[in-house]
Amino acid sequence: MGVLFRPSPRMLIGIATIFMTVGSFLLLIPQATPFRLLPFPDRAPSPRSHERLYGDGYRGHASPADINRVANATLGFDRVFVVGLPERSDKRDAITLTSALTGFRVEWVDGVRGESVPDKAVPFGTSRERLWEANLGSWRAHMNAARRIIQDDLASALILEDDVDWDVRLKPQLERVAQGARAILSSNPKPHSPYGDDWDILWLGHCGEIFPETLEENRGRSSDDPALRYMTRRFVIQDDMTVPPRDRITGLLDFKNSPEHTRWVHISGAPICTFAYALSQRGARKVLFDLSVNHLTGPFDNALAGLCRRAVSTHGIEDPAAAGDGGLDTKCISVTPPLYFHHKARGLVDGDSDIKAINDGQVRERGSTENIVWSARGNIDNMILGATTMESQYDNQDV
Ligand SMILES: *[C@@H]1O[C@H](CO)[C@@H](O)[C@H](O)[C@H]1NC(C)=O
Repeated sequence: MGVLFRPSPRMLIGIATIFMTVGSFLLLIPQATPFRLLPFPDRAPSPRSHERLYGDGYRGHASPADINRVANATLGFDRVFVVGLPERSDKRDAITLTSALTGFRVEWVDGVRGESVPDKAVPFGTSRERLWEANLGSWRAHMNAARRIIQDDLASALILEDDVDWDVRLKPQLERVAQGARAILSSNPKPHSPYGDDWDILWLGHCGEIFPETLEENRGRSSDDPALRYMTRRFVIQDDMTVPPRDRITGLLDFKNSPEHTRWVHISGAPICTFAYALSQRGARKVLFDLSVNHLTGPFDNALAGLCRRAVSTHGIEDPAAAGDGGLDTKCISVTPPLYFHHKARGLVDGDSDIKAINDGQVRERGSTENIVWSARGNIDNMILGATTMESQYDNQDV
């Protein structure tokens, strides 16, 4: 496998010629410009080997080998933070158990109630009434996480919301994501982060995401526009059995037109929801400035997506009048379909929300998580027992 193989100059000319002839034609296909194709997992342990693809013992199979740092106890980041109210002990118990069993360690960043944020602390120009208290509390808790990254001088941190779920095979998934992130953005063959060193935001968990060239402000771009070339960079993970059947995936893209079991690592367009995202040190600084110190343009997830969107849609524009602040040149990468998703827990439906009172007492008999095949939350017992095959949320899928 050679993400970082060193081609000879003659090969480079050959490759360049192929790209120029094939590339211009590919750009006309709205579907994708396949950047790199990789089957999942790259060197798959055969089913007979009964390797556990989760837990502390999983070491990774990626190449170059330094990518396997994503399998460490903080998933290749400096820390993993979970944002949530301390009194939601039910959510803390579940996250503590699922993360420990899958093989990573979390630290808590206390959630904030909106009403505890005084008017004076609300960013200038932000209307508290328009934002409503729940959004204000969520915004503040995420800002506290970003601030901690800066204050403690962390190279990066993954930030999770406290009701998320993921696949038992998260670590093998992250090996591919790291290869993708490096292929798209990083030029350093020995990066400090296994995900490469040029990203600000890695958006791993969202409710839906689109490719940036389909945003309305980018639709008219000509095929020789360097910005278009930047925003269509895409890393394709093929035969990824952790991707649900395509007619069951939820999100904004039309997955039915793409091959089964395909996942993309790509430049972010405008993701919705912040189930899970990583910030680099540089990314945390941009976020704390753009979403607090300077202003706040809306609910936290929209404001974060707005930063990524402004950056990608003004990429390469030199004229300050047209580029504005250029989205602080924020480099955002998304994974679609996402690796993390909101879990609908068994029990009281009103319990999903930290704000709603228990009203009608409606109960969910069975927990579920969209877009996740081997739900960690749904396989806690199997992981405790050390199983190698888990229960799939997609019954008739052969995984
Ligand atoms: C995991 O790897 C990252 C990247 O090399 C590193 O920053 C982090 O400290 C490591 N975590 C642990 C627990 O060793």
